[in-house]
Amino acid sequence: MGLLDSALATKGAGASERLKILKRHAQAFLRHATAKRLWNFCKAERNRLQKRTVLDSMPYILKIETTNICNLRCAYCYDDRRAPAPGERPFGRMSADQFRGLLDAVGDYLFKINLYGFGEPFLFPETLEMIRLATDRNIGVGVSSNLNHRDPDLPRRIVASGLEVLIFSCHGVSQETSNRFMRGGNPELALENLRAVIDAKRAAGSQTPFIDWQYCVTGFNEHEIETAKDKAKKLGVDQVRFIKPFFPADAPDEWFSSRFPRQTFSHDAEASPGCSWLYRSAYVNWDGGLIPCCRDPRDLSVDFGNVLETPFRDVWNNAKYQAARALLADPSRNDLRPGIVCGRCPVTRLPRG
Ligand SMILES: C[S@@+](CC[C@H](N)C(=O)[O-])C[C@H]1O[C@@H](n2cnc3c(N)ncnc32)[C@H](O)[C@@H]1O
Ligand code: SF4
Repeated sequence: MGLLDSALATKGAGASERLKILKRHAQAFLRHATAKRLWNFCKAERNRLQKRTVLDSMPYILKIETTNICNLRCAYCYDDRRAPAPGERPFGRMSADQFRGLLDAVGDYLFKINLYGFGEPFLFPETLEMIRLATDRNIGVGVSSNLNHRDPDLPRRIVASGLEVLIFSCHGVSQETSNRFMRGGNPELALENLRAVIDAKRAAGSQTPFIDWQYCVTGFNEHEIETAKDKAKKLGVDQVRFIKPFFPADAPDEWFSSRFPRQTFSHDAEASPGCSWLYRSAYVNWDGGLIPCCRDPRDLSVDFGNVLETPFRDVWNNAKYQAARALLADPSRNDLRPGIVCGRCPVTRLPRG
């Protein structure tokens, strides 16, 4: 269940909520299926089960960061959004042409693109063009946004882009509470934009985007959960999720809620849900740097290659990918650890014994 939970973001959800999420993903899977995608999907899953190191399949879901620039400074996000140091990824954005090139390379295999990373996608107009490009190829697109924008036409354009899922990040309802987490943000503006997206959806008679309010629960915002539920219902939000955020272990007590108290994890491979990223997915940074997952997107030495400079297929099976898959299959291969980010991941740590 662990791998399914992390793939579908159902961790912590109740049984009926989990069933609803599963149903929605199954429907999206069928909506975007083609013979080529299904065949690739079967090969990718076979490769994963057989723990192969060289794959005859491509990823079937991608996380593509359009930009790592943001208008807010949420606590603990991207190292509190400090300026990049030497050897780290600069701030920047992907162009629509570069995105088109990526689609030419892998679009035929993709059921879904999560078009966001560590920045705010709707800061720049090319994101809407990218959504349209992917949607026209029958790829489902999901975007996560803080919706802190002062552009009256943005809600209509979001709906017109064909976006399938809009994750609305808002971790508090009142200005005071929300701002402790989302520094520089304005929840009133964000909720007004959310209402406008829902209005635009209704006006267009559109089923999409599915609106998924994501609320990271802390000790100082949990008292607003009921108000958030109420607002979500009144606005016509499709789903609201109160999730367990990630904070550093030394974060002050107020960041941990009674729902999700501070935990001391036993990070060993036995307790971990495993990893499917190396077979199913990957994270493309705005500059084309390909990393296996969203762990450590800043350090340029973590990149497995650059898919704006090298054919995607070549990076996907290069020496770093082969070493990472071999280590995942056999965590006792300590010789493979140096130089690959997976060597530092709890998932490849041997069980204590
Ligand atoms: C880094 S944000 C980038 C996209 C966009 N700027 C936004 O905030 O939605 C990506 C996702 O991380 C979530 N997020 C932010 N801080 C988090 C935390 N401490 N733990 C877990 N998720 C977090 C946001 O809610 C969002 O869905
Ligand atoms: S709005 Fe999103 S990207 Fe920006 S600081 Fe907050 S979580 Fe990070």
